[in-house]
Amino acid sequence: MRNMLCALFIPLAVWYSASAEDKQQNQELNSTLEADRAQTIFQRLYRRRRVEQLEAVKSLLELPEYEKQYKMVIMIAEKVYNVIESSRVTLESSGYIPGAQFPKDENVRDALSNILENTALLGDVLLHLPDITHAILAYNYEWTVMFRWSIGFCNETMLMDPKTVKMINLVAQELNITDRDPSYVNPYRKDAKLEKQTSSHVEIKTSKKKKRKDIRKGPSLSSPRTDL
Ligand SMILES: *[C@@H]1O[C@H](CO)[C@@H](O)[C@H](O)[C@H]1NC(C)=O
Ligand SMILES: *[C@@H]1O[C@H](CO)[C@@H](O)[C@H](O)[C@H]1NC(C)=O
Repeated sequence: MRNMLCALFIPLAVWYSASAEDKQQNQELNSTLEADRAQTIFQRLYRRRRVEQLEAVKSLLELPEYEKQYKMVIMIAEKVYNVIESSRVTLESSGYIPGAQFPKDENVRDALSNILENTALLGDVLLHLPDITHAILAYNYEWTVMFRWSIGFCNETMLMDPKTVKMINLVAQELNITDRDPSYVNPYRKDAKLEKQTSSHVEIKTSKKKKRKDIRKGPSLSSPRTDL
């Protein structure tokens, strides 16, 4: 809507002899346009960055040893914490209000992208490596507090792409920041799925075994069962 208005406005401005008030309005409109354009570019870069981050998380999952994964997650969490902490200072001193107009200042934009990127990265790591990440967050209280803050903050900026919004909402449930949906599961929790598969597998095996046993037992079905 705003863009359409401006497309109409620009050609007019060429010949329109503006009063002071009109000029002021024109400037405001131009700066809004610029902010919109900057925001579009920002969001495009963010989506690209998210693709890279998911690749990085994949390679983290491919690390052969649990200990290596653990060490990497500590490194990531610490880095994320430090970046968010300093960016938060920049943002708060700039007076930026999440969800309000996209900031003009480069430093503020950088701080914003730092927070959006790092929060999403740690979110991916938490969902993909939940046991390790929960353990690490559990004994780094400050990191947890900062992460909880940044999750709420990122959500309020309205700058994340829909996929990342969805992921962040899973993270909020995983951390019990928001109430868990009754059907909530962390879709990336491998061991949970594995456990389920294994236990149903075991069940099938057991029932097959029982059947075979019963068949073999044949005529002695009435005898007291010993396998209960
Ligand atoms: C994100 O904001 C929406 C409202 O805009 C809210 O319903 C939701 O719970 C928030 N999610 C998180 C993770 O804060
Ligand atoms: C979140 O709540 C669930 C259910 O009450 C609990 O099992 C889980 O350990 C909690 N997780 C965290 C990180 O607090």
